[in-house]
Formats: sequence, structure tokens, C-alpha cells
Amino acid sequence: MTRSRISCPVLARRVVGAEEAAAAIRPGDSVGISGFTGAGYPKAVPAALARRVGEARRRGEEFRVQLWSGASTAPEVDGVLAEAHAVSKRLPFQSDPVLRRLINEGEIEYVDAHLSHSAQQMWFGFYGPLDVAVVEVAAVLPNGLLVPGSSVGNNKTWLEQADRVILEVNQWQPRDFEGFHDVYYGTRLPPHRAPIQLTSAMQRIGDPYLRVDPEKVVAVVETDAPDRNSALKPLDDDSRAMGEAIVDFLRHEVAADRLPADLLPLQSGVGNVANAVMASLLDAEFRGLTAYTEVIQDGLLDLLDAGILSGVSATSFGLSPDGVARFNDHVASYKGRILLRSQEISNHPEVVRRLGVIAINGMIEADIYGNVNSTHLMASSIMNGIGGSGDFARNAYLNFFVSPSTAKGGAISSVVPFVSHVDHTEHDVQVLVTEQGLADLRGLSPLARTSRIIDRCAHPDYRDQLHDYLARSIAERPHARHTPHLLDEALSWHQRYLSTGRMLP
Ligand code: COA
Repeated sequence: MTRSRISCPVLARRVVGAEEAAAAIRPGDSVGISGFTGAGYPKAVPAALARRVGEARRRGEEFRVQLWSGASTAPEVDGVLAEAHAVSKRLPFQSDPVLRRLINEGEIEYVDAHLSHSAQQMWFGFYGPLDVAVVEVAAVLPNGLLVPGSSVGNNKTWLEQADRVILEVNQWQPRDFEGFHDVYYGTRLPPHRAPIQLTSAMQRIGDPYLRVDPEKVVAVVETDAPDRNSALKPLDDDSRAMGEAIVDFLRHEVAADRLPADLLPLQSGVGNVANAVMASLLDAEFRGLTAYTEVIQDGLLDLLDAGILSGVSATSFGLSPDGVARFNDHVASYKGRILLRSQEISNHPEVVRRLGVIAINGMIEADIYGNVNSTHLMASSIMNGIGGSGDFARNAYLNFFVSPSTAKGGAISSVVPFVSHVDHTEHDVQVLVTEQGLADLRGLSPLARTSRIIDRCAHPDYRDQLHDYLARSIAERPHARHTPHLLDEALSWHQRYLSTGRMLP
């Protein structure tokens, strides 16, 4: 491996191995790492830290750190550190199976925060001081500026706020990434905040580079390792049905003059279903689209390749291995059509509201009144986290929440009387979509929403049960008919599944 990616003499002198770099992390530290949806996470230092923690534990010493990121990372970060029992607290998003188990078992504290909030909550001092940042970049320029890699996430904040910085310079990240990023350095704290001057999805308001004070850089590690993203599930009939329902609805909104012919900037959430919805736009007539989103999954890349989408603003890639190969083979051709920003800007409520984003996000379940649960299974277990779904849905011009109507082979209805956990309230949710159909809830009172949701979105196997629940709720609550409920029954809805003895997640 050459050192050609580190052109700054000061930082070139700090190059060490991963073990030596990890030695700069101490028990009890808060560690801010790069990484967002499996892209741009550090590839070497977390594993070295996990080994150090393992050695300390064998000597009977406690060694745990707080782990702050952009969003989810990969087995090489969340997986190895969770397996080493190295994490005391994690924020603001995760999707790793081992880490998830330890959170659900109570070993790891998890702060599941809106992704646009995490940087400012750090600046506000809500999380305490940041001891170390471990940030992957694609290159270091002669003047010390950093060329970001496949995600930006919270890197700007971690680099600014950390006492000590470890850089990983990854040769695998395309060198052509220079020019793909727009890092905004104008954010101030209240009461000194000024408007974010972004009025179109692809507008630049920042710099192509990340900054770091070289005095704080305690180690630079060179790596040459790929991002490890998961493959997406192949498109099935249910995903196609949901995608087509959304596309038909968008046509209807254009015809009703509530949307322009080239729509408004799209946001597509993480997960198989949200990705599948993008595939439906491939066959539709819309052209000249843009996306103002958080993550670029394969579906968005397909739309770019087909020329249907003219540009995508995001904070990260979240591509399948095939998608990564396709992108890396033609990086230069995407320059100017993809912009990666810090997550406090990619998900900024002010910008999302101004641009009038169309937000499409996955959900776990919705209730008959339109409250949505995106994060919890059976009320108690975390699945992933709220991610950016709240940032976008709450502030979008139009929002959709999508899910198959049942989970676990039909044993669980995704439409329930009362969601077991609320992430998006009835006031924020506009359109629900399952493979059964689409329920437009805009402008409807709670009771008017119920039959629309049950008849259009619930699986036929559960419709009678849901109607029966509703009818009895209305009959038995003559003075409480705005949003009638039978609480005992609503909260025991999932009991039937739990009584099978099966475990979740
Ligand atoms: N009860 C129990 N399990 C459920 C469930 C329910 N009502 N609904 C879904 N699940 C399980 C599925 O069975 C599946 O489990 P498996 O991996 O063991 O098969 C898993 O959840 C994922 O479901 P799937 O239907 O494949 O959907 P998805 O990949 O689109 O993910 C979410 C759906 C809700 C988990 C995902 O969208 C998410 O984490 N959202 C929150 C964050 C977010 O919206 N970010 C976007 C901002 S950009």
C-alpha cells in the first residue's frame, strides 16, 4: 500500500498501525465514529479496540465506551464491539443483530434519536463531552483538508468536538469522491442561528472537504477495505403492489394540481420495502425528478442510471454489494448528480419543509387511527430506531408509511387497534400503504380514518376482528367517541402471537 492518499506532511507523520491507534481510546471514553447505513465506517480501529477490550476483560478489568455514530455501521464496528461487550451506550441509530440483542437484554443503553438532532444535541451538551473521534476518509490533501468517503453523517461534528482524533484513510474509497460532498460550516447555536440557505435539492452551500485541527490528530491508520453493505431482498409481489399504489397516488395528486408533473424532491427510507417503492418509479412516466433524502439505496441509483432522477442529495450510500460495484465502476459519471451532506443538513426540518419533500418510510405497524410504530416489536424490543423517518415525515409536504399488511408469515397484523409504541403520531401521518391498498388520511377525523385504514390496508384475515373491536369501542364509550378504545383489549392484541412462545426480534 502506498501513502499517496495522505499528502499532508504533518498527518503523514502520524501514521501508525490500528493497535497503536486504538491505544488512544481509554475505558469510559465517548467515541464518535463515522459510518452511516454500512458506508464510511472505520474498518480497522474498532476491531483493534475490541481486541484490547477482550484483553482487559481477561485481566478482570472493566473497559467499555460510549459509541456515537451517524447511524448504523456494520459487523466490523457494531458487531465486533458488541460481541466484545465493549459498549456501554449507543446513539443515535443501529441495526446490528448482536448489538440489538444486548440493548434488548439491558446491557447497552440506547439513545434512539432523530438523526437531524444528534449533532445539535451534542453541541448543546446533552450527551456530555466527546473524547475521541474515529473517522474514515478517502484522502488527506496537502493542506490537511479531508476528502470524505461514502458517508458524511456526523463526521463534521465529531471532528470539531472531539478532544482527540483518529483518522482512517481508506484506499478502497474512490479517490474520485473529491467533489461529491457539501459540508456546511455555517451552523450556529440558538439564539444566533441563521436560515439554511438551501432552496433546491442539489444546491451547494458548503465545502467539498471536512476540516480537522491537525494538533488533535493522534493517529492516522491506512486501510484498504470495502464497505460491507447487506444485500436487499429481491422485489416480491407485495413490494411491487405497494410501489404501484404510491405511483398511482402520485399521478392522482399531479392530476389534482397538488403536485407538479416532475413531483417534489423524494425521500426514500431504509429497508427493503422503501427501496422497492423506488423500483416502481422506473416504469412510471415521471421525469426530471430529484431526491432530497438520507440514504442512497439501489432503487435511487437505478433511477439515476435510467435518467429519471436528475440528482440526489443525501448523507450516505446504503447500497447492496452489487450496487456498490456498479457505483464504484462509474464514480466519475455520478459527479454533480450526487451530493453528500452532513446529516443535520440532509435531514434538516427547515429544509425538508421548504423543499416540500415527498417522504416514503417503512413502518412496523400502524393503528386504526393512523399512529405509526417504526421501531418496536411487541412494545418492548427495539428493532432498529427512528432514524430519519421523523425528520422527514413530520416536515414533508406529503408522507407515506409502507409495510406488508402482515409479518411473520401472516401471524401478526401490521394494522392493530393501538400501536404498541408510537414514533409518528396520527397528526403527522398522511398516507398508509400496504400490499392491500392505500389509505389517504389527510383531512380526516380519527373515526373517519378507521374504516379507510381497516378496509384498504389491513389484511382480509384481520378486518373483521378490527371492525369488531372498533364497533364495540364505539358502543361501550358513548361519551368518548372521538378516538374510542377498549384499553385492556387493545393492549393485549399481540398476546395471541406471544402465547405461541415465539420470541422477537
Ligand atoms: N411485528 C413483528 N415483526 C415485524 C413487524 C411486526 N409488525 N413488521 C416487520 N417486522 C419484522 C419483519 O418480520 C422483518 O424481520 P426479519 O428480518 O426477521 O424477516 C423485519 O421486521 C423487517 O421487515 P421488512 O418487512 O423486511 O421491512 P423493512 O426491511 O422495510 O424494514 C422497518 C421495516 C420498519 C424495520 C425499517 O423501515 C426501519 O427500521 N424503519 C425505521 C427507520 C427509518 O424509517 N429510517 C428511514 C429514514 S431515511
